[in-house]
Amino acid sequence: MKKMDIISTRNMSRDFIEDVLEKTKKMEPIAKAKKQVDMLKGKTLATLFFEPSTRTKLSFMAAMNLLGGTVVGFDDPRTSSVKKGETLADTIRVVEGYANAIVIRHPNEGAAALAAKFSEVPIINGGDGSNQHPTQALLDMYTILKEKGKLDGLKVTLAGDLKYGRTVHSLAYALSKFDVSFVFASPPSLRMPRWIVSDLKSSGISIKEIDSIEVKSDVLYLTRIQKERFPDIEEYQRVASAYILDEETLKELGEETMIMHPLPRVNEISHEVDNDRRAKYFVQSFYGVPTRMALLAMVMADI
Ligand code: NCD
Repeated sequence: MKKMDIISTRNMSRDFIEDVLEKTKKMEPIAKAKKQVDMLKGKTLATLFFEPSTRTKLSFMAAMNLLGGTVVGFDDPRTSSVKKGETLADTIRVVEGYANAIVIRHPNEGAAALAAKFSEVPIINGGDGSNQHPTQALLDMYTILKEKGKLDGLKVTLAGDLKYGRTVHSLAYALSKFDVSFVFASPPSLRMPRWIVSDLKSSGISIKEIDSIEVKSDVLYLTRIQKERFPDIEEYQRVASAYILDEETLKELGEETMIMHPLPRVNEISHEVDNDRRAKYFVQSFYGVPTRMALLAMVMADI
């Protein structure tokens, strides 16, 4: 079996994405029933979290558990040998001896790709700095497919911190393999990086960039302003409340516009919105389990 790493959606093919979505559909009943199967019995997943995480880490753990496998790992690098100055390359070389696959989240862009170079076991990128978060994008795609019944022909608005938000970078590339049009809504200082826009345009995608929030799309995907990535806290404070979806803005929202958010939210979506039928962010976070089950089975059991 050839090693399969999941590092970025940039070069992911439409066929691969569709394959993941089909496999996710098969995993969904197991995730819903929360009843363990033995597909990955005897296998071990290592989770190396060099940055905070709730959903990504716990849903990977739940997914591995549901497939009958075991999880080892750390979520506070201060309690690992990283604290003693161990390099990422050495950590990976050691951990590959303990596990059949490794999920890594790291503040440095390119950390997962680097880990993949050193590792003989599959590496799954759980987020590398502002760069990519491919497994989030796949669960986002699954959510859109479930709710809209299709991925082609949709108008998708990505809003908030498009500069530092890795979820929107990954999702934009994944969606660009389908027939979609984009609205990128952000403060001018938090625009989607130019090289990503030019990559997307070269695949023939239409992109509109605006400063206000666009509420009439098929999908409105909001994001948290990524405070931890700002070199200057004052710059963060200037844009911290740039876009807020509350009862007022909800009145303007399209009848069939689904509201998504990778979570955690800070103030972008007020709690009154949660009960609106168009709010899908909690079901979206649930789909992290079947999506990650599919990915774990693909990289470890070659399904
Ligand atoms: C995101 C992340 O870590 O990039 N969280 C997640 O995995 N759902 C989004 C964020 O932190 O804003």
